[in-house]
Formats: sequence, C-alpha cells, structure tokens
Amino acid sequence: MADPRVLAAQALPLIGHLDPEFLKLMDRTREMLRQVFRTANPFTLPISGTGSAGMEAAFVNFVKPGDRVVVGVDGAFGGRMCEVAYKYGAQVERVVKPWGQVFSPDDFKPALAQGGVKLLAVVHAETSTGAWQSMEGLGALAHDAGALLLMDCVTSLAGVPVEVDRWGVDIAYSGTQKCLSAPPGLSPFTLSPRAIEALKARAAVGPLFPGQSIPPSNPNSIQSWYLDMTQLEKYWGADRVYHHTAPISAIYGLHEALALVLEEGLDARFARHAANAARLWAGLKTLGCTPWAAEGHRLPQLNAVTVPAGVDEVKARKALLDDHGIEVGGGLGELKGKIWRVGLMGFSSSPANVARFLEAFTKVLGAQIKVPDASVPLEAALFSSDATASPAAA
Ligand SMILES: Cc1ncc(COP(=O)(O)O)c(C=O)c1O
Repeated sequence: MADPRVLAAQALPLIGHLDPEFLKLMDRTREMLRQVFRTANPFTLPISGTGSAGMEAAFVNFVKPGDRVVVGVDGAFGGRMCEVAYKYGAQVERVVKPWGQVFSPDDFKPALAQGGVKLLAVVHAETSTGAWQSMEGLGALAHDAGALLLMDCVTSLAGVPVEVDRWGVDIAYSGTQKCLSAPPGLSPFTLSPRAIEALKARAAVGPLFPGQSIPPSNPNSIQSWYLDMTQLEKYWGADRVYHHTAPISAIYGLHEALALVLEEGLDARFARHAANAARLWAGLKTLGCTPWAAEGHRLPQLNAVTVPAGVDEVKARKALLDDHGIEVGGGLGELKGKIWRVGLMGFSSSPANVARFLEAFTKVLGAQIKVPDASVPLEAALFSSDATASPAAA
C-alpha cells in the first residue's frame, strides 16, 4: 500500500519541470535520498522508470561489449541482472547458490581472482526468495580486484539498513513501490566518486557527433540515450539542462515518501519492520508454516513462507484475494508453487495488517488442511516476545 500522504502529494497540481519551485523540490528530494541511502554521494537522483530501469542504468553506464562482470545469482533478480548485463554485451560470470541462500565474500573470490572484472553485482534483498544478503566486506573485495560494487536494493531501501558509503557500494538502485510506499515509477539511484571516475573516463571521448558528420560507431559511447547518467546529471545538477520531461507527480510522491521515512527515523522504521515480521512468524509457526530463506538471513519486509504439504498454493492465494482482499505473491521461477511471499513493507508493515493476514490465512488454510483456531496464531502474534522487545513495537 502506498502511504495516503504520498497519494495526496501525487494528486497536487502540476508545475513545469524547470519551474524554480520544482527545482527546489528536486534538490530536497536528492538530499533526502542521500540520507535514506546513507551516502554523501553527490550523484544521487531518481531515474524515471521502475527498478528495472535502475538495473539497466547500472549496467549500461559501466559495461562495454566484452567487459567481464560477476553476478551473484541466488534468486530471480540476480538472474535478471545477468540478462541485462548480457544484453549490453558483457561477458557474464554467474556465481550461483540455491534459491533462498546467501553469499559469503569468499564465494566471489575465485571469479574475481581471474582479473579484469568491471563489476561485482549483488542483490541485497532477493525479493524472489526473501533472503537478506550481507554486504559486509564486498566493497573491499571488489575494489581490491579493480572492480566496482553494484547493489540492487529495490526491496531493502527504507525497510532494512542500506549503508551505501560504509559498505563501499559504487552503484546502487532501488524502486519506489517497496518499502518507500510510493507508487511504482521511479528508481532511486546513486553513484560513488569511484563510479563517477569510471563514467568520466568513458564519457571523455568527446561529443558524440563532433562537427557536421556522424563518426563511425563509437564503442565507448554509453549504449542508451535515456539512461545516460552523464546527461541526466546535467538536468538534476547545477546546469538544469532539459533532458527528458521529468515525471512531476511521481517526484512529488517520492519527495513525500522520503519525508515520511525521515520523520519516522530510519532506525525506528527498521525496528518496526523487524517487529511486525516477528509477529507474523510467531503466528505462522502455530499454523505449522516454515520460512523458506536461510536462517539468520530473512528479510522482515518480504516473508517467504513454504507451502505446507497437501496445500494447493494457487487456490489459497486466490481465496486470500477474492474472499479477504489480501494479495500475497506466489513463487517466481523455480520456486513457483513452493512458496508464498508475504510483503510487510513500509506503510503496510503494521500489527493490524499482520493480524488481518493471520486471521484470513488461517481460514484459507483451514479450508484445505487441519489448522488450529484463528485465535491461536493471533495470540501468538500479539504476545510475540521479539515484537514486544522492539522499541518500535507500539
Ligand atoms: C530485487 C529486485 N530487483 C529489481 C526489481 C525490478 O523492479 P521493477 O519491477 O520495479 O522494475 C524488483 C522488482 O520487484 C526486485 O524485487
């Protein structure tokens, strides 16, 4: 659910994309994005487009045909990164783990040791499995190998800590529709000074069309016009040069969403997500449900629930939606039919939503297998010790 304040902001009258008031709003949006990414990166802005636009931008600005990239694949979105990198001509090396597990820095060492790697790309919050990848140590690992560290934080930003500077992340992108609780449509994006240097080296070839004649193809040119970050910075930065018409309403919405995050406080927001996930799992456990993702690496905002034996997951999901107005995700790719994905993100992460879900889910499961009375999971959620121990429990 988008926060109602965000929806109200998006309904405000439009002003021009070079209106002085809009320029101020852009600057404030950038500043708040830096706080939420926990970065001092001057190059921080929202890309027009969903999280996948951020993913494309992350690769197309840095990868030339033939460049080596190493991608961690332990779910669907690591796989998507490989496809994107491949489309831009990269030589893609996958480091693979079973879906639901996470990587240790050692897992990437053999691939990086071969040398000549441009990017090490990792998904921080794997939405397809509910796994929470630790980023500790990956910055140094990538930099020692002469590579840039690329992080997908579409599902993590504003739900669990994202520490762009502390982790040495060079390229990060997110999305607005997850823990920021705004409609889909923008991809918050940030580049470290190290990434900017790489970009400058590439863009330094000169104007694409010097003089009157069009030169033969230039392998150094960024293979996207819309997502060329050197051009976007000219609009978002001091030059204020028109590039493409900014999606005004979406930026109003993001501005409001970021203000809401910072009003709550990042740490309080993370604690709220943790407490509500603890409530959810306390209740689910009484129904005999188990998590899919590896222990100690479970996202509180994306809860992957293993489908119990004897349960038709599609039927259960349909009943939740049709009879109770609750939408949960099914499994993607190889997890199709094996898990449900229960989102408790941003505005939706509340004790009331946990209770509403548990009550409905108990009924839906009860139509297929034997489960306790709905009061059992509800009481377990209410008295969950992890949840009540949290400062954000109230
Ligand atoms: C981890 C991750 N990366 C990338 C994406 C793609 O984002 P979008 O669907 O907004 O284009 C998603 C979408 O759910 C995601 O969860």
